[in-house]
Amino acid sequence: MKMQTIKSKPVGVVGLGLMGTSIAVSLLASGHRVIALAPIPGEKEKAYDQFIDLLQHMDKAGMLKSDTKTYLDAVTLVEDYRALIECKLVLECVIEDMDIKKSVYHKISEVVTADTVIASNTSAIPISQLQLLVPYPERFLGIHWAEPAYMTRFLEVTCGTFTDPKIADEVVSLALEWEKEPTLLKRDIRGFITNRLMYAVYREALSLIEMGHTTVGDADKACRYDMGSWVTLMGIFRRMDFMGVDDFIYSFRRLFPQLSNRTDVPPLIKTIMENNGRGIHNQMGFYNYSEEEAKDWEEAFADFNEKMYHLASDYNEHKLGLVRDSK
Ligand SMILES: NC(=O)c1ccc[n+]([C@@H]2O[C@H](COP(=O)([O-])OP(=O)(O)OC[C@H]3O[C@@H](n4cnc5c(N)ncnc54)[C@H](O)[C@@H]3O)[C@@H](O)[C@H]2O)c1
Repeated sequence: MKMQTIKSKPVGVVGLGLMGTSIAVSLLASGHRVIALAPIPGEKEKAYDQFIDLLQHMDKAGMLKSDTKTYLDAVTLVEDYRALIECKLVLECVIEDMDIKKSVYHKISEVVTADTVIASNTSAIPISQLQLLVPYPERFLGIHWAEPAYMTRFLEVTCGTFTDPKIADEVVSLALEWEKEPTLLKRDIRGFITNRLMYAVYREALSLIEMGHTTVGDADKACRYDMGSWVTLMGIFRRMDFMGVDDFIYSFRRLFPQLSNRTDVPPLIKTIMENNGRGIHNQMGFYNYSEEEAKDWEEAFADFNEKMYHLASDYNEHKLGLVRDSK
């Protein structure tokens, strides 16, 4: 499948929840036609309103080349899988449930042609398992977006055991045209790259709090104002170069033996869950929120993302003329 072929056809997005709508809008803004499929009744109308809101947000942020109507005209909202027949790329964004994904793949596979690439946005289910649920596993891979998909540069392309590496390379090239900074994970490992990195941090932070060394608020403050002040510019390896690799070797020796390596679920998060806490979604998590505060945080996040999107672009290494191969 050549990139040009994918681009000349509409891209299918199946599942129109938080991520499906956000991904569809990102594709529209990149100039694709999109077939947006609502797998559950009643979702179509809600999704259309969401497309309008998200496109308006992009417009306000100066991210659109045409008016919002042009992009809305490029999306076809459907409930019938037969509408995907033309697509050469279909992105599955349904709920994280293996049986539901299986039934969705079956419906997609029944209508698309053998050369269509099917991708999942799954955060946690191994691609090697999911690809066994489609007739052409070599054309199946993970395309993992970060929310809000239309305003974040992250995109993780993950190969399963049977994925054709050439297809993964083509998806990476395509993602560059979506103005993403794609990473390629050649072997499907649980948690992919980003979750493995982040979960190591979550585990250590939870452990520090449980041992009484710090509080949730202070652990967050340390992340926000230390890591937060350099991480988007340099990542972690350039950071080590910047600080002096020799210093890190010394600290690794002393600190690694003291870091948490627990393998069970930490009691702190278990207790919140047992008390029905779901975080900002029901205003109960590591922090408690009033309805208004929860809304204010969501708005602050949208605003912050908009600024970060532009800031990350200004300091992109291509723009700075600082591109060199890494090890
Ligand atoms: N939320 C995130 O930040 C995030 C980030 C990266 C990846 N993901 C992944 O993206 C996928 C979708 O997540 P989301 O956050 O958009 O979820 P969501 O709950 O907002 O939406 C899920 C969608 O799944 C579909 N669905 C629900 N029940 C279904 C059923 N019985 N049959 C068929 N379809 C059904 C619907 O279209 C629904 O809108 C998941 O695999 C998730 O792991 C989510």
